[in-house]
Amino acid sequence: MEERKTILSGIQPSGELTLGSYLGAIKNWVSLSKDYNCYYCIVDMHAITVRQNPASLRRRTLEQLAQYIACGLDPEENTIFIQSHVSAHAELAWVLDCYTMFGELSRMTQFKDKSAKYADNINAGLFTYPALMAADILLYQADLVPVGIDQKQHIEITRDIAHRFNGIYGDVFKIPEPYIPEVGAKIMSLTSPENKMSKSDKDSGGCIYIMQKPEDIMRSFKRAVTDSETCVRYDPEKKPGISNLMTIYSVATGKSFDEIEKEFDGKGYGDFKPAVGEAVVEMLRPIREEAERILKDKAYLEKVYRNGAEKAAYTANKTLRKVYKKVGFVQK
Ligand code: TYM
Repeated sequence: MEERKTILSGIQPSGELTLGSYLGAIKNWVSLSKDYNCYYCIVDMHAITVRQNPASLRRRTLEQLAQYIACGLDPEENTIFIQSHVSAHAELAWVLDCYTMFGELSRMTQFKDKSAKYADNINAGLFTYPALMAADILLYQADLVPVGIDQKQHIEITRDIAHRFNGIYGDVFKIPEPYIPEVGAKIMSLTSPENKMSKSDKDSGGCIYIMQKPEDIMRSFKRAVTDSETCVRYDPEKKPGISNLMTIYSVATGKSFDEIEKEFDGKGYGDFKPAVGEAVVEMLRPIREEAERILKDKAYLEKVYRNGAEKAAYTANKTLRKVYKKVGFVQK
């Protein structure tokens, strides 16, 4: 029998989990988890590239763990862990830093965006972030990395780093491929549909969070920015707001754009916007309820992250030992 392929992905606990991360990444994680050997982590080490409140970071890390499980990731079948619990990530990141070029890091759009946004804290970690992300992926010899489109550039640099390393030392790393959904790879803000929906969005109505109360979700959808026409038609150039809502509705209900256009033919935005809100509320309701339930069971969560870290460390350390040997470190 052919060996199962491996998947790795992660989300920063730098804010509450958003509808964007759910549709762009987690939904795929769940559907892939049946057929792949999966590692899903909470990348707390990445989160500190931007200043965090320690108590909030700790709380959000555990909440995110409960939410992963509530979204349908079974911790018995998937390795779910917290990045800082597996020291191999930091160790490989250092080695990879030495095989990553200043020029290529300077071209990363996430670095450019974040250094503009946090101009008073352009730290070295923010700059070398992609080498840590490459370590996350390469430690597990991942075949596929399910992410939203904004992370594609980071997977490309991971591939470049892996190729460079393999070119010097032989086949050490598997070269990973991004896995980006056809619909939902870039969910836009509800209030400024030309921008990505982001957890660091200052404008609270633009972003939907998976733990948000139904009435708040409904309010945000009813207020979503659209255009001066009245017809529900997919045209991301001319109708970014409506096209974004159609995307969300399509992923939430499984309906195609054609089906949605027919369903709302002759109806206006006043019917469409609350329908999208309701579809999202119903999609998120079981997740929120289950996450709230799991979060109360601290002993269970602790068991999950301890087991996860142990399983992850086993695989990660195998790769790390190989790397250390290849670069010429004396073995312990
Ligand atoms: P992060 O934490 O910003 O986002 C987590 C995941 O959600 C996706 N995403 C979106 N997808 C569609 N529409 C949106 N509006 C939207 N917002 C976020 C992101 O593409 C991502 O898949 N660098 C990564 C975290 C990371 C990682 C890794 C990912 C660290 N190590 C290893 C994969 C593998 C990040 O900042 O994602």
